[in-house]
Amino acid sequence: PEPGWTVEVDAIVVGSGIAGLTAALELRTRVPRVLLVTKDTLVSGSTVWAQGGIAAALDPTDSPAAHLQDTLVAGVGLCDPRAVEVLVTEGPSRVRELVARGARFDRSPDGEISLTREGGHHADRIAHAGGDATGAEISRALVAQIEAVRDDPGIEVVEHALVLDVLTGPPGPDGRPGAACGVTLHVIGEGQRDGVGAALGKAVVLATGGIGQVFRSSTNPAQATGDGIAAALRAGAVLGDVEFVQFHPTVLWAGSGARGQLTLVSEAVRGEGAILLDTDGVRFMPAVHPMAELAPRDVVAHAIVAQMAATGAEHVWLDARHLGADFLRKRFPTIHERLLDHGIDLTTDLVPVAPAQHYHSGGVVTDLVGRSSVRGLYAVGEVACTGVHGANRLASNSLLEGLVFATRAARHIASQVQGGVLRQSSPVQRPGDEALVAAASRARVQRAASEGPGVLRSGAGLRRAVTALAAVPTDAHERLDDGRLLAHPQVAEWETTNVHAVATVLTATALEREESRGGHARSDFPATDPDWQVRIEVALDPDGTV
Ligand code: SIN
Repeated sequence: PEPGWTVEVDAIVVGSGIAGLTAALELRTRVPRVLLVTKDTLVSGSTVWAQGGIAAALDPTDSPAAHLQDTLVAGVGLCDPRAVEVLVTEGPSRVRELVARGARFDRSPDGEISLTREGGHHADRIAHAGGDATGAEISRALVAQIEAVRDDPGIEVVEHALVLDVLTGPPGPDGRPGAACGVTLHVIGEGQRDGVGAALGKAVVLATGGIGQVFRSSTNPAQATGDGIAAALRAGAVLGDVEFVQFHPTVLWAGSGARGQLTLVSEAVRGEGAILLDTDGVRFMPAVHPMAELAPRDVVAHAIVAQMAATGAEHVWLDARHLGADFLRKRFPTIHERLLDHGIDLTTDLVPVAPAQHYHSGGVVTDLVGRSSVRGLYAVGEVACTGVHGANRLASNSLLEGLVFATRAARHIASQVQGGVLRQSSPVQRPGDEALVAAASRARVQRAASEGPGVLRSGAGLRRAVTALAAVPTDAHERLDDGRLLAHPQVAEWETTNVHAVATVLTATALEREESRGGHARSDFPATDPDWQVRIEVALDPDGTV
């Protein structure tokens, strides 16, 4: 659509989770003008839902080297060790900076940050806040910092605005995509800016989070429609590790037909000693892995699925009763309350749990400063594929990744803008920008993704999903006889278009990878194959095909 207004800044940050807020705060003091765009309010997205915590080697008996080792093991041979090294060595300082920015972590009686354990970690290194409301506290602290400078002319915050596309300059002579030079955005609610507009900038930072809406059910909030990854793909950026989707093992089972955002029961509950039982009351994880319930997340999720298949049940049980009512209420107040809303008392009842989509380990391929393959386009947080997660993210490394790489990206952009290396270019119109999927097709896309590249995949199921997704119409416009649009497409259509694009790439890459590894499990290729220890990368051809 034609922009009705234009704003010019130095850097544009899209998204207001830990990565977006951190990038905006870092940029604000380093470049003259920053625009922070978020699809809902500043307090929205996945960060506020994060329960367990943020991992960092903060304890003197722990070390970045040990954190690195656990991260590499969880990633099953596909992590980029250089990126992991950055994550674990810079992580502790970034967490301390977060404390300086006002985040209040839970502390032990001696005043030190309390650290717990989660799956795949061999040390207590998970800092938490409010017991099990870590993301909400981090969001509160960072949003307060943004609010404190909101009247500053150096930063503009636009809430309730969906970024439709990344604008790019003229392509290179070799056909390489042109540099990112802004975004088009659709302001959804009332505000200073209205309708479809354009923001021009020397750098665009995508911090748009995950893809939960690609699936029928997920722990992610409704905003997680893969907008950043889809926009990056359309802008010509390379995506990687897209097939690696993390299914959290212990999501409250809310009945066969449960849809949308489901209630997470944090891994920290198992970290404190809760165990998993099958529906006959038998503990099964010790026979599966030496770390039992605290094995890496993919191992536990797949063991639960195998158990459900063996017993014919739709869930297993999480048993925390032996941890004591006082401890559970104090340590997990949010989870306790949310379960009570479903008539389940964590202190006295078994909790029915099953795996559900939780996190996307892949995304927009970036280097160690968050740069994508498109000049001027950066990606940080869940939307990015920095290489720190490989085939499976280690628990509580996601908030840390957002924090560490958003800081790096912002500092790099600032140096490039100050040095005149990143300059404003003029956007060119790309063909194909108007191919949209009707909002009414969302359920059809979600069914295809859930039955194709779901927790347990097969060639036959993935091929069915490819066919189903290809059959979804991609021209949702109502047009007049002369071809003009009858009305501007609505936000739900753009979001569904993004969900469809991500589902399509995810299904294709899951079909291509003929092995099982981390968050990608194939019933027809159950073994991990050393020949597949490679990243699958995808990008759009100039004709618009992947
Ligand atoms: C959890 O609290 O179990 C989620 C932590 C994570 O996704 O890293």
